Amino acid sequence: MDLVKEINRLKKEKNAVILAHYYQVAEIQDIADYVGDSLQLSQQAAETDADMIVFAGVHFMAETAKILSPDKIVVLPDLKAGCSLADSCPPDAFEKFTKAHPDHVVITYVNCSAEIKALSDIVCTSSNALKIVNSIPKETPIIFAPDKNLGKYIISQTGRDMLLWDGSCIVHEAFSIDKLIELHKKYPDHKIIAHPESETHILNTATYIGSTSGMINFVKQHPKEKFIVATEAGILHKMQQEMPNTELVPAPAKEDNTCACSECHFMKMNTLQKLYDCMLNESPQIDVPEKIRTRALLPIERMLELSK
Ligand code: 13P
Ligand code: SF4
Repeated sequence: MDLVKEINRLKKEKNAVILAHYYQVAEIQDIADYVGDSLQLSQQAAETDADMIVFAGVHFMAETAKILSPDKIVVLPDLKAGCSLADSCPPDAFEKFTKAHPDHVVITYVNCSAEIKALSDIVCTSSNALKIVNSIPKETPIIFAPDKNLGKYIISQTGRDMLLWDGSCIVHEAFSIDKLIELHKKYPDHKIIAHPESETHILNTATYIGSTSGMINFVKQHPKEKFIVATEAGILHKMQQEMPNTELVPAPAKEDNTCACSECHFMKMNTLQKLYDCMLNESPQIDVPEKIRTRALLPIERMLELSK
């Protein structure tokens, strides 16, 4: 069976839109109607006229789409496509934490479950985190969760005193600083660019720090440069498509990592076959209990409003 042809046929038949994150495998990015970062994909999910949103990403992303578009069918190719950051923040423990600090504004990174969003005042992504934090009055204390690395980066940029949740992304924490320094000796003219989910010692080596779309834009704006790219390796597909003549090298992971470069095994659970199956069967679908959905919607809408 020609999967690409069949997926395109189902797309028309079911009035479906395929939204894919930059970390998806190349063939999924190539068939998607829209490829983007977490913020762009949630904006697309909020605005689409499609009846079905096929979310080629991970669970929290599809959940955010369902929160924003409750009347649409939202399918995820593999229900097990989760996220270590989202898993690092269980709702019961987080609720206790927020209750212990009732005077704090709760800002959560979008990489968390609907239950955590429902306990938040405002959501952010890596592309708008600084703007969202700066929108909170200076004297107001902040809880930031779940990513401690992004939290530390925001503190370094804003000088804000934030209480951080102890969560992290296994993919961005897999980068090896020793191997990165070695690699940079081999490619001394390459500039290092990094995602803020990376640890501080990696970020300290970077010329540019930003979200996946920010990193792609930076590469596009510097056509004469070469880059070592410290984020999930799937991004190289879009970067290379946009800039075919730019030399790109993925940042190296620690020895014990299963892959020489950093790949998110959750993102890579989605395949073209599973994408086709979920469209055909309209399953697995994402559902969010209405009580949680309405509470989670408000902090997401606040973020979208501030990101216009
Ligand atoms: P962005 O695409 O928003 O930069 O997020 C990266 C990420 O880790 C998504 O899981
Ligand atoms: Fe989660 Fe990290 Fe994978 Fe993004 S790359 S989905 S933060 S585990």
